[in-house]
Amino acid sequence: MQVVKEYVQCIDQLGLLPDEYICHHKEGNLVEIEEGATGRRRTVLTFCTNDVLGLVQNPAVQQAALDSIHQYGTSNSSTSALSGRIDLHRQLEQTISEFKHLPHTQLFLNAWMAMQALVDAYCHLAIPAPGFQNTRETLILTDVLNHGCIVSALAHSDTRSGKLFGHSPRVRVRAYRHCDMTDFARKLQRYARPGDRIMVVSDAVFSMDGDIAPLPEMIDILANYEDTVLVMDEAHASGAIGATGRGIYEHFGITPQYAIDRGVNPLIMTTFSKFAASAGAAISSHIKELKPLLDVSPTSIGTISLAPPLAAAAMASIQQVMQHPELVQRLQENTRYLRARLVEHDFLAIGETNVVPVILDSDINPKQFARKLMSEHGIWVSPIWFIAKPRLRITANSLHTKEEIDQLVVALASVRDAMYKTTISA
Ligand SMILES: Cc1ncc(COP(=O)(O)O)c(C=O)c1O
Repeated sequence: MQVVKEYVQCIDQLGLLPDEYICHHKEGNLVEIEEGATGRRRTVLTFCTNDVLGLVQNPAVQQAALDSIHQYGTSNSSTSALSGRIDLHRQLEQTISEFKHLPHTQLFLNAWMAMQALVDAYCHLAIPAPGFQNTRETLILTDVLNHGCIVSALAHSDTRSGKLFGHSPRVRVRAYRHCDMTDFARKLQRYARPGDRIMVVSDAVFSMDGDIAPLPEMIDILANYEDTVLVMDEAHASGAIGATGRGIYEHFGITPQYAIDRGVNPLIMTTFSKFAASAGAAISSHIKELKPLLDVSPTSIGTISLAPPLAAAAMASIQQVMQHPELVQRLQENTRYLRARLVEHDFLAIGETNVVPVILDSDINPKQFARKLMSEHGIWVSPIWFIAKPRLRITANSLHTKEEIDQLVVALASVRDAMYKTTISA
């Protein structure tokens, strides 16, 4: 452990570790936090939560979670393949299927496990079946800026979670430039071999850049290849884009059926940690056979099924979104307002969604910036100095008021001006 000690002390001295904040209470976007380093408590206005529709404090969502505990207890205490599911799982899967227009949905504990399960299941299948030959190689194309859950699953894609099923055929993974459809088409042409099974995976909304994958063009290109699979990770798209929050297909005015009609198999991963006031993930498809296969993938069979209050909160949240599209409209209005105000104040805000990355001058340290914003203005945003290129990551949600957004932008400008003066005079 000596290396661990020395390394962590080193990154701590270099100021590279994240600051620690502990939440004591939440009321809308006002959060009472304790600074880990000093123990000091204060109430701040948050612009860094992923609770984009403000549903974690919604009474109907909270009640559903409490009711589920009374009915089923706090945990299912086993895996679904070995000890069955609860009816709530089935109801949640049906609700997601309706929300995402794909009839077959399978639940997971989170996005990382869902992605690993999908890659295991699709590339390597599951239980050896006498006489069944799995001989076709898989080619997977991935956007270079895809989320870590995709990167991790693809890094392990050459075996079925470390185990070989018979003589599982090879999996080849190739990255294409971020949202670059010329490069995407070129890579497909260059790497696809006759007989390959082709899978393409992309964030629908990119979690650090806040931009949207060019779905219609991807479908157009994939339509030239037979029986391809197109996986959209809708972690930041669900509840946030599309007129009623149904995600990337609705954003582009199409449904998954459009992809199916073009010969492309659409798969959607929904996660519950952002719009759905919970934790967990789901994969939806129009292929009914995928569901039992996912159910026996290692990350389903080797771990606990989604706990009742998590499933109940996710289901009640999706029902809220379906019954109250105005929540999504408010989020989108707030996003537009925030982005416009940032531009007025000469900030470089990239992307187009409620994930708003603000790129700072290269000599301004985002961590120092965020600390100053909190200490002098009581506003909390996420500084990014690792994971992606340095920036502030601001998330708008549907509970923010225009006054709060104005307060944020004025504070951002004031901190920038003060820091800019300091860097110029230094
Ligand atoms: C694109 C994307 N996929 C997956 C995840 C992980 O989702 P979860 O925390 O719900 O498992 C995130 C989280 O930020 C994300 O942005």
